[in-house]
Amino acid sequence: MRIVVTRRISEAALVELRALGEVWVSEADRPLEPEELGKAVAGADAVVSMLHDRIDASVAEAAGPQLRIVANVAVGYDNIDVPALAERGVHVTNTPGVLTDATADLAFGLLLALTRRIAEGDRLLRARQPWSFHLGFMLGSGLQGKTMGIVGAGQIGRAVGRRAEAFGMRVVYSGRSDPKEELLRTADVVSLHCPLTPETRHLIDADALATMKHTAFLINTTRGPVVDESALADALLANEIAGAGLDVFEHEPEVEPRLLELDNVVLTPHLGSATVETRTEMALLAARNVEAVLTGGEPVNPVHS
Ligand code: GLV
Ligand code: GLV
Repeated sequence: MRIVVTRRISEAALVELRALGEVWVSEADRPLEPEELGKAVAGADAVVSMLHDRIDASVAEAAGPQLRIVANVAVGYDNIDVPALAERGVHVTNTPGVLTDATADLAFGLLLALTRRIAEGDRLLRARQPWSFHLGFMLGSGLQGKTMGIVGAGQIGRAVGRRAEAFGMRVVYSGRSDPKEELLRTADVVSLHCPLTPETRHLIDADALATMKHTAFLINTTRGPVVDESALADALLANEIAGAGLDVFEHEPEVEPRLLELDNVVLTPHLGSATVETRTEMALLAARNVEAVLTGGEPVNPVHS
């Protein structure tokens, strides 16, 4: 069996994969270019992919008819053309569950950094600006009694909801089919936890931002294209909303340049699941899916289009 891993993963997972066959791991410190990816997957029975790999019919063709599984080391799988792979009898799996708390923690971290001006305060000190404590200095806003609006009531959304309740917030959810209008109109914080699909692309557009309170904060830890990033910069510059905490970007790794200039924006480079524990669990789960399929069983975490 040939197993192709498109970017370095934890050693524990590699040990499991090596027990199944010959493992090739990309040593590049960057995503593989499409052409490199096509070459790398040739002859693969299994591909362990990352969210920056575009896996479509052409990659399946490049791999060959023996390809049985693409195991994405991510909960999101918008990078994979699932129907095209299903058509070729290739299983697609993801890594749900193991990154729920890590991602919810980061969403809350962004929110606190924003509402309590933590990142801004850190920049002020590093700039060696003079300062002194006074009662009106760098005031933020509290969370207690405010409304947390969660778009996408899946595992991560609900984990954010539990955290919000612990902070004394009222929590409202909007799922796939409910109107988001009411949530956008009333929430003090809008936190996005829906997957990226054709329906959720630019879910937060100029209209949605205009519907939000002027005092509201937007948190995005799902996928960049759920937000129209240019419309977000417009809305922030026009003070249509109070601030944004973003872990994901529409054109990753690029960030809309105007956002970099704003003090009421907190940015992290796609760190939602980035803890040692979670990344190890994610890689192990992907390996477990590969093992299940290559030994003739059913995948543990199949995804369907
Ligand atoms: C990370 O963004 C993931 O989808 O796991
Ligand atoms: C603040 O530092 C306080 O002591 O209240």
